[in-house]
Amino acid sequence: MANPTLLILAGDGIGPEVMGQVTRIIDWFGAKRDLGFDVEHDLVGGAAYDAHGTPLHDDTMAKALDADAVLLGAVGGPKYDDLDFSVKPERGLLRLRKEMDLFSNLRPAQCFDALADFSSLKPDLVAGLDIMIVRELTSGVYFGEPRGIFEEGNERVGINTQRYTESEIDRVARSAFELARRRGNKVCSMEKANVMESGILWREVVERVHKADYADVELSHMYADNGAMQLVRAPKQFDVILTDNLFGDILSDCAAMLTGSLGMLPSASLGAPNADGRPKALYEPVHGSAPDITGKGLANPIACILSFAMALRYSFDQGDEATRLEQAVEKVLADGARTADLMGPEGGTPISTTDMGDAILAALDARL
Ligand code: IPM
Ligand code: MG
Repeated sequence: MANPTLLILAGDGIGPEVMGQVTRIIDWFGAKRDLGFDVEHDLVGGAAYDAHGTPLHDDTMAKALDADAVLLGAVGGPKYDDLDFSVKPERGLLRLRKEMDLFSNLRPAQCFDALADFSSLKPDLVAGLDIMIVRELTSGVYFGEPRGIFEEGNERVGINTQRYTESEIDRVARSAFELARRRGNKVCSMEKANVMESGILWREVVERVHKADYADVELSHMYADNGAMQLVRAPKQFDVILTDNLFGDILSDCAAMLTGSLGMLPSASLGAPNADGRPKALYEPVHGSAPDITGKGLANPIACILSFAMALRYSFDQGDEATRLEQAVEKVLADGARTADLMGPEGGTPISTTDMGDAILAALDARL
């Protein structure tokens, strides 16, 4: 049987550096676990703009639609700040999400025991934390029309539109309930039904889906502002958080920081299943391109490596191999390996991006 295909879009900033370690891990699984992938590399974001004048070339878009999974590094950087909005690096990523119809964005926030002291919260509030944010990713205010900057009388007005159809809410709610069944069996849905009609409809549809097909899952609702507060007050009350595109963007950064470092957090963006049963899928770290540390060998590759673990689990049905990789990461952290972002108040000597890759490969080898 042919190997599954991976399209790697390393992107900008630290993207290529962290992805460099991921390709070593992919090679390891091919060599040691008989899990070969056919890997192709292409450009996205500022790197694509530099080469083609667009943050995502049509050929790359076609390859992404064709691949069994896409791995993305990061997009953006100060060099591109003055570009027209339509060709900004972020537009490349948003086009991928939209055209691949990746409506369900899974952002786990898990606190590794070895890192509980790094959280901005007290260690006992975050030790053992394991929550999953399911963020709607292809609609809402990110894509709603009308949008733009318009003349109105003698001034300009900036407009974006929060818009959700029942079917868009329905499908992402289902993915959250399905996921909850395989975890703690709880979903907390967050919106602003107190001030937004789209929030009223969101709550209504989530309740309808729950009642019809997922009554066994415990469901609660929260206004998103209260949700933000609860996330930093008592994060362990949550299992799966279901929310829209913009609230999910904000709440997931907040949840990520609870775990100690943005450099640790992976994500999966999933669409509807193809004929072969695999969902359209893109995997990327939650962190950005980190221009301040680009090219210095300081970046933490773990978020990107754990994104590949999510690919093993959600695209390739290799849950055991995903766990193997996650445990290798846990082992090197327990042994004290720390990139610069993981320097606690007591300091220490940080290791480089490549050193972290070496350590994880050694841990994988040790547990063969
Ligand atoms: C994210 C990022 C993106 C978003 C940007 C880079 C477009 O912040 O994935 O959370 O806003 O969705
Ligand atoms: Mg974000």
